[in-house]
Amino acid sequence: MLLLKGGFTMLISVLPLLLLLLLTLPLNGWTSRPPRVYLSYRDLMESRSARSFTFGFNTSDYRILLLDQDQDRMYVGSRDYLLSLDLGNINREPLIIHWPAPLNRHKECLMAGKGRADECYNYLRLIQPLNRTHLYACGTGAYQPQCALIYRGWRSEDYVFRIVSGSIESGKGRSPYDPKQENMATIIDGVLYAGVQVDYMGTDSALFRTMGNKPPIRTEQYDSRWLNEPLFVGSLVVSESSFKEDDKLYILFRERSLEGENGPAVLSRIARICLNDEGGLRSLVGKWTSFLKARLVCSVIGQDGVETAFDQLRDIFIQQTQDKHNPLIYGVFTTLGSVFRGSAVCVYSLADIRAVFNGPFAHKEGHGYQMTSYSGKTPFPRPGACAGGFSVPGIRSSKHFGEDVLRFVRTHPLMYSSVYPVNRRPLLLLSDATYTYTSIAVDSVPAADGEYTVLFLGTDRGTIQKVMILPRATEETEGLILEEVEVFRTSSPIKNIKISSKRHQLYVSSDVGVTQLSLHRCSGYGDSCADCCLARDPYCAWDGKACARYTPSPTRRSRRQDVKNGDPHRQCRGYNTQSKCADGRVGTS
Ligand SMILES: *[C@@H]1O[C@H](CO)[C@@H](O)[C@H](O)[C@H]1NC(C)=O
Ligand SMILES: *[C@@H]1O[C@H](CO)[C@@H](O)[C@H](O)[C@H]1NC(C)=O
Repeated sequence: MLLLKGGFTMLISVLPLLLLLLLTLPLNGWTSRPPRVYLSYRDLMESRSARSFTFGFNTSDYRILLLDQDQDRMYVGSRDYLLSLDLGNINREPLIIHWPAPLNRHKECLMAGKGRADECYNYLRLIQPLNRTHLYACGTGAYQPQCALIYRGWRSEDYVFRIVSGSIESGKGRSPYDPKQENMATIIDGVLYAGVQVDYMGTDSALFRTMGNKPPIRTEQYDSRWLNEPLFVGSLVVSESSFKEDDKLYILFRERSLEGENGPAVLSRIARICLNDEGGLRSLVGKWTSFLKARLVCSVIGQDGVETAFDQLRDIFIQQTQDKHNPLIYGVFTTLGSVFRGSAVCVYSLADIRAVFNGPFAHKEGHGYQMTSYSGKTPFPRPGACAGGFSVPGIRSSKHFGEDVLRFVRTHPLMYSSVYPVNRRPLLLLSDATYTYTSIAVDSVPAADGEYTVLFLGTDRGTIQKVMILPRATEETEGLILEEVEVFRTSSPIKNIKISSKRHQLYVSSDVGVTQLSLHRCSGYGDSCADCCLARDPYCAWDGKACARYTPSPTRRSRRQDVKNGDPHRQCRGYNTQSKCADGRVGTS
């Protein structure tokens, strides 16, 4: 194990205790080896497997990406611009909407003392599909959020992209005011669910439902038990039973921990609400009656029992599985402290998450008390159950919930147990202290010897790492960094990654731009069978002449690939590997 390298040596003299801690961590899972291939931005462009979006206008912060695989477009939100790009070639005739904040608003914003960090512009923060022909988009509007309908036609050949005239409206409760704020938004059946700061001062953050034919609903205001300075990361809709009434939205975020909770200052959470929630009738009017939340743990326990926690959820990726009720949630986490900079990827199953929401509620007797497991009588219907759903078929609306239920919901939004990752340990750990992971996309790749999970991880140093997960002994995994590529001319932390398995492309954004790149650069591994085989990239195989994209086919024998062992001795017999052996990379007999 090569734990001691690069940035670590510096820490050793300063922090012998930390070192001790690190060395006692279980070693499996640490991605400590350098990538097999490292490509600078120039190398990447020369490989002809990537394209950077070139834009002649003055903009920045391209953090919002929305893939539309049906129309073959990608929608991008940046400062003052909304773009519609061709998924096949993001530079092919982009459609552009210039949507700045009104000039007088821009001036007011500057006069109010904002704008020192370029805040007084319209940063696009929400782009969601509304229906076949329209998108809904919102921006910060120089500290006065605004939203609008965007017409994009029936097909991409229609070649239209414009703001519907007269549709601009207030974006309060939909887009943040402050462009530095992270937010979450999703439109489901014409209804918008947003996790966002609601006011200019940034003191009121809420989970909001607006638009459509449902009454507006939000989280309880200024109640730190519900939300405590939250930063929203993402969400997913899950159909929980054969009853549509049981459909829920799960929301992932991090927030300041509650007084009375042990542990770190910031925690990661998963919350959930029923989509059909209508609020209460006499109390909790216009508030969620189904809001519950639980702590999301991503930590590793060393052999001496010392726990290293990764408490800052940074990004999530939802992987659908055969079972539509049980997708997997991949989360990227970083550590809180400035001393030890580590990152981890943890995977959560919906079954485990449900078990926590079906378990005991957290309870606090009063100010200054510790959190305990609530042991009193739980009202019926059980708080968090959806009206009209499988377990509450008799009550059609949350407005008919009893006052005892609402009182309980209001005071007990937190579950006592925490959600732990699959196998109770991270899928991947990064010990290298010189950079952290910021974002994630996941692909499932069929190879000759099985299906492999490949992670694409964005870093804060402007690169994408392609990491293959190798199963090892029971429940253990090892991450193998196949490749690391610089995706922007000037280094900038990766803000967003989208994957199109259909197109075999990755779309990556940051403050400085958008780049599309192929999921594989097989020829980059070298031009011998041994090089190709040793790379162990499930996307690639030796086809007799070159290292090329692997596609499962009946004529498999002619395709040489060994992801599991990366053993060229067996795979490459008969191919001349001698010339390649000379450089010392491959030791074939
Ligand atoms: C681009 O816009 C920024 C405002 O964020 C401004 O400071 C900068 O001078 C502009 N650059 C050019 C070349 O216009
Ligand atoms: C989509 O929504 C817009 C705005 O509500 C509406 O004008 C339009 O007719 C809808 N289009 C379709 C195809 O339903």
